[in-house]
Parts: sequence; C-alpha cells; structure tokens
Amino acid sequence: MIDLHVHLFPGIDDGPKDWDVALALARKAYEGGIRTATITPHHMPGTYENTAEQIQSYVRELQAVYEREGIDIQLLPGQEAYPEGDLRERYERGELQTLAGGSYLLVDLPQQDCPFYMEQLLFSLQAKGILPILAHPERNRTLRHHPERLEEIIRTGVRAVMSAGSMHGAYGPSAQKASHDFLQRGLIQIVASDAHHPEGPAFFPLQNRPLVESLIGPDRAWEVMERNPQWVLESKEIPAPIYDRESSEPAKKKSGGFWSRLFARA
Ligand SMILES: [Fe+2]
Repeated sequence: MIDLHVHLFPGIDDGPKDWDVALALARKAYEGGIRTATITPHHMPGTYENTAEQIQSYVRELQAVYEREGIDIQLLPGQEAYPEGDLRERYERGELQTLAGGSYLLVDLPQQDCPFYMEQLLFSLQAKGILPILAHPERNRTLRHHPERLEEIIRTGVRAVMSAGSMHGAYGPSAQKASHDFLQRGLIQIVASDAHHPEGPAFFPLQNRPLVESLIGPDRAWEVMERNPQWVLESKEIPAPIYDRESSEPAKKKSGGFWSRLFARA
C-alpha cells in the first residue's frame, strides 16, 4: 500500500531526529503494510527549507539506506508546503515538489485558523495546473466548525488527506469526531499516516483498515486507502462525491457557491 504523507527522512523537519529513529519508523511502516511512500518534508520558508532539489536527493540517500538495511519500501519525492501567500511564487521558483513529481501538491494546514486567503491560494495553484491536496483538515479548528467551507473547497477540485491518527484520537476528541464525520461525508478522499515517529500506536494501513471499513464500508475504504493514493501517483483525477451522513449514496448536489460556479463556467 501507498503512504502519501509521511516524514521518513531524519533531521530535516519535525520528523525522526536521527537515523536510528528513522529506520525504526521505516520498519514500522513496512509492518503496517506500506510498500511505496512519498516522503513529505515540511517546506516552510524561514523554518524548514526542504526545496524540491533537496528532497530529490533525500529520496536517493534514504532509498540507498533502505536497500542496505533490507527495507522493501519504494520511495518517491513529495513535500508538505505551508500555505503562505507566496506559495505560487515558490512554485514558479521551482522550490515546490509535487507528490511523485506529478500533478498533486500536498498543502499544509495550520491547526487553528484556515487563512482567509486559502481559497484564492488554492485557486491560483489550480490555475497553474497543480491539483492541491489539503493536509489533515480534520485537525483545523476553523474547518471543524465550518465543514461547509471544506465542502465548498472540495467541490472546486481540491482534495483532502486525513492523518490516520486523527481517527484513533491521537489529536484529541474534536479532531477524532471530525475525522469520522468528514470521512463519512466524502470530505476526505485519502487516508495517510502523517507519521513522524515510531513510538505510540501504529497508524499505518493494516491497523487502520478495520476502523475505516466500519465507518464507510469496504468499497469506499478501498477507494480512500488504495485506489485514490495510486491515482495520485498517476496524476489521475479523483472523484469526490459528497454523501449524506446517514447514507452511502451520494447526496444531491447543492447549487454551489462562487467557486463551483466559476469552475462550472470553465
Ligand atoms: Fe505532515
């Protein structure tokens, strides 16, 4: 299985602090069913640089270490880009690394507020042909309180990836409740580990699958855990039907807001 959001390289962000910890995390990922991973170091100017070129060299270095250590996980480049106003300029400067070098870019979300300019930022990326994937909206206070804002963002073509630990309560009861709710409503299209450290409960696919299946059934669990991650690697368009909470049938499409209308005209 594929992990599209994971911090595997040591000493470059808030992931593993050294090689021993990094290897322990890699072995845990392997035991949890991961065979392919896009490494997603934080990119936050002034705090974590981790440009596209650097990340590609991290992948080569880490893959060589895995081969030496017998860890059978294929690594691909990725990045978790912080959503500051100059994100599009950073893309134009070549600093941003899309997932597996394809069309999708993982965009970080702060824990508290969702910036007022978020929709504009996401749209400016889409206008450049980049397909943004929002990281862990269930951990963002604004989107938890206003899921209709997330729904509107999803309807514009942006996709969302949940941190698996949220489902298990690793980020508190509010994020846990939102993760179940968003998943059931189709506001999350991908589940990934977002693992930083090997300690604590495992949040890799083999441990997550029963809970995801209990929330959305086996067919939709396969979509969010296997099909959609594969389609990200292939830069294929991922459908995002919105569901009524109580039903497994897609909800009737609402009239849509500004962004939906804008895209409908495009
Ligand atoms: Fe992350």
